[in-house]
Amino acid sequence: MGVTDRPLTTPLQIPAFAKINLQLGVVGLRPDGYHELRTVFQAISLHDTLTIERVRRPGIDLAITGARLDPGPTNLVWRALEAMSEALRLPGGWRVRLEKRIPMAAGLGGGSSDAAAALLAAARLARRPLAFERLMEIGSSLGADVPFFLVGGRALGVGRGDEIYPLESGAKRSVLVVAPAGIDVSTPDAYAWLDRKLTKAAPPHKLWLSCALSWSRGDADLRNDFEAVVFDRYPKLRQIKRRLLQAGATGAALAGSGSAVFGLFRNPAQARRAARQFLEDQVFIARTLTRAEFDRAAGAPR
Ligand code: C5P
Repeated sequence: MGVTDRPLTTPLQIPAFAKINLQLGVVGLRPDGYHELRTVFQAISLHDTLTIERVRRPGIDLAITGARLDPGPTNLVWRALEAMSEALRLPGGWRVRLEKRIPMAAGLGGGSSDAAAALLAAARLARRPLAFERLMEIGSSLGADVPFFLVGGRALGVGRGDEIYPLESGAKRSVLVVAPAGIDVSTPDAYAWLDRKLTKAAPPHKLWLSCALSWSRGDADLRNDFEAVVFDRYPKLRQIKRRLLQAGATGAALAGSGSAVFGLFRNPAQARRAARQFLEDQVFIARTLTRAEFDRAAGAPR
């Protein structure tokens, strides 16, 4: 190890949790080209792991296991750390290990969550004050889903999905995530498919909002506007949703714009039993996370 490689801090290990959307309403196209959303995010226990430390050598040394991903400037973790060095005027650089478990192009927010975990870890390791609002702004500049992963638990997302309002966490549920092999859905493509269906009629903003808020009172109906267009292109995903419901899920839906599909269960034993039906797919048994659990694990500065 050369002088410049020497760590400035001890390594910090931080989980980057996945999310599901209990509701995903796309209510219209915005002037900035993004879509106006009414969504309810829910953090789940499935996670990637980041191990991160500050080193004397400037630059970002990122190593990734568990997935083939660019460890360079196109990676959201890399961009998150660069933004933090700049915002806090930090000397030196970063050494990061990212262990991927969350499947990619699955609608589970893995890349955005990794970026948010890097922001939270960097804020702790920097030991310099940074307002939480500023962290949210940096998150939002990296991706529309990143701000949610700075808050965790259950939350309403409006605007591009980056305006976050925390909701009550509700009863704990087990979550069976089914990620079918060989189906990757590109998010921009899914939005383009949806654009052809969006009507010019006034979007039901109020309806979506009242449905979203019912998730703060307990379990409500799962809804996802992407299902109509994504299930038509990938009938296997519709079939997975049906099978989850037949296997006893209290609700099942596409995760984000897909391709993962999840089912909610009252307890882990039911989720494990249902998982046996999906031998040819990748499955994960997880549970919903409250904000307090999220804060404890991720060390959110609130
Ligand atoms: O913000 P992020 O880079 O995660 O978004 C990925 C893509 O999803 C955007 O380039 C855009 O095409 C689409 N998107 C959208 N409206 C949103 C969020 C994402 O159109 N509210």
